[in-house]
Amino acid sequence: MSELSIQELEKVAETYERLLVPALFEEWAHRLADAAEIQPDQHVLDVACGTGILARTVAERTGAGGWVSGVDINPGMVAAAKRISPDIDWRKGSAEALPYEDEVFDAVICQFGLMLFSNPETALQEMMRVLKSRGNLAVAVFDSLDNSSAYAAMADMYARVVDERVGAALRFPFSMGETDVLASRFAAVGISNAVITSYEGMARFSNVRNMVLADVKGWFPLAQIHLDEPTIEAVVREAEEVLQPYLTADGAVEFRVPGIIITATKP
Ligand SMILES: C[S@@+](CC[C@H](N)C(=O)[O-])C[C@H]1O[C@@H](n2cnc3c(N)ncnc32)[C@H](O)[C@@H]1O
Repeated sequence: MSELSIQELEKVAETYERLLVPALFEEWAHRLADAAEIQPDQHVLDVACGTGILARTVAERTGAGGWVSGVDINPGMVAAAKRISPDIDWRKGSAEALPYEDEVFDAVICQFGLMLFSNPETALQEMMRVLKSRGNLAVAVFDSLDNSSAYAAMADMYARVVDERVGAALRFPFSMGETDVLASRFAAVGISNAVITSYEGMARFSNVRNMVLADVKGWFPLAQIHLDEPTIEAVVREAEEVLQPYLTADGAVEFRVPGIIITATKP
């Protein structure tokens, strides 16, 4: 999955948690928990948990009588999640081969992981396998890049200033935004009652440099992309121009990042 050492993976995960989670992912955890109708005392699985923002949010709702598990393929993410919340059950594992028995969860949730899986259909089948009958599935993906103009501009900038491989790494997470294609992917694995809902998300980075560092040190290394310091400085300079339309009076960067939540109930 990655040529990085566990220490390097943990460092990337820590940057992800510090810069990307509050700026982009945290608000979605509440939406996913609502969409899955999480209740006290439930057993819940967070697939591709990253540093665990969704599992932590859900654990507050399931309470002392509940049980929450988070699974991620990246041991650095799992180690960071464990350090933040030692009481949650964190596991290293693949979404395509979930390390759980059949029908053990009242809800299975997955926030911005599906687009990254090598086999999303197998992962969906696995999520349904571990879900109890009448259990809820809720999966979030980003809308298309056409609807996230700041990231579209940043991807073009990375392609221009660094190379096309880096632009592609930023575009890749936005590859599942076509709702009809999404619906057919769920239907193809027998999830025919899926409900697809679009949401208006907002990203807010405290400044341009932190937005660039979130990509360069919290995301790209997982795609085997490592930029040297002079290149990072060149990217920050270009980003100051490209992100002008999204700057607030206090120098923060704010922009829309719409997403889609697909929900289904296991028969
Ligand atoms: C964009 S992050 C989202 C993390 C977390 N859900 C959040 O909202 O912060 C995507 C996560 O998917 C994980 N991932 C990618 N492929 C995976 C797979 N096949 N199985 C499990 N996790 C995977 C990555 O390691 C990463 O932590």
